[in-house]
Amino acid sequence: MTFEEARARFPVLERFAYLNAGSFGPLARPTLEAMEARARADQEHGRAGRAWFEDVVALRSRIRERLARLIEAPAERIALTSSTTDGCNIVVSGLDLGPDDEVVTTDSEHPGLLLPLHVSGARVRVAEVAARPTARALDAILSCVTPRTRLLALSHVLWTTGQIMPVHELKRESGLPVLVDGAQSVGAIPATVGELDYYTVSCQKWLCGPDPLGALYVRDPEQLRIALPSYFAQKSIELDGAFVPVEGAARFDSGWRAPPALAGLEAALDDLPGWRFERAAEITDRCRSALAAEHELIGEPGQGTLVSFVPPGEPADTAGRLYDAGVIVRELPGTGWLRASCGWWTSEWDIERLVTGLGR
Ligand SMILES: Cc1ncc(COP(=O)(O)O)c(C=O)c1O
Repeated sequence: MTFEEARARFPVLERFAYLNAGSFGPLARPTLEAMEARARADQEHGRAGRAWFEDVVALRSRIRERLARLIEAPAERIALTSSTTDGCNIVVSGLDLGPDDEVVTTDSEHPGLLLPLHVSGARVRVAEVAARPTARALDAILSCVTPRTRLLALSHVLWTTGQIMPVHELKRESGLPVLVDGAQSVGAIPATVGELDYYTVSCQKWLCGPDPLGALYVRDPEQLRIALPSYFAQKSIELDGAFVPVEGAARFDSGWRAPPALAGLEAALDDLPGWRFERAAEITDRCRSALAAEHELIGEPGQGTLVSFVPPGEPADTAGRLYDAGVIVRELPGTGWLRASCGWWTSEWDIERLVTGLGR
């Protein structure tokens, strides 16, 4: 599949310079068609019957396998969730943290991770990484570790600055359990689980899947308490609710996911071109260079696929003006920055439209 063929699959790109995959990726025609076909078939057949249910379970298994392959994990260690936030809640609540425990995170985390950490009751230590060179992140994070640290919890790619955090090095150096928020990494940069303990996936962003769909990698499912069980947690259940968990990480599946959305995701995962990471890195660089002439850039080159910058006017107004000019970027609350998300489908023309729109 060439770049032009890949790009032509996304209807939204016909109208917009859509630079918003850090929130929601574009949906391709085959994804939309698979969703429609599944919704129609479900209604014509009726959402009932053993064959239908088994078909949905088989679809769930195929998605589990596909997502596992993407992050180089065994399928038995993948739970299907609704989101990264869902995955963070599953892990943090299962660890039974309390006031005597500490968790180390960074100063640039999304509420999807931060809120579960806060309500865990553990003391949250925040390492300052966002305003420093990325090469100093490892030391900054490790310096917050104490004998009470039970978990390191951070993003692989920071949603504000696009910096790539040294998650594998942190695991190696600390030996502590590590929970990685993969919302801005999976599908955007090569991301593998390696020795990490927990890794979340958001399917609606860089994987160009429908929402709400996500996944959670759990290295040792037996060691994490099932704190938020769904129907899928059990293979047998007693009258009082006591249950025998299913094998593997499927015990953490966070509930029923709409079959049309799953069908759409399967189609989206079929369509990922082999050259995606290279192309995304290249166009991100291009975007940085094009903006740098007139605008202050946040972060460093050679990181993730998010480009944050200081806009000429008030960020929300500028984002609104850009939208009217057919350019979609996101305002980052509380920072004064706008963020352009550059995907493998992003063209030079999209970048030109962004630069021109900002100059108006
Ligand atoms: C780093 C990061 N974590 C978590 C989230 C939330 O993702 P989800 O909607 O899949 O919970 C986002 C979404 O923008 C994000 O950027």
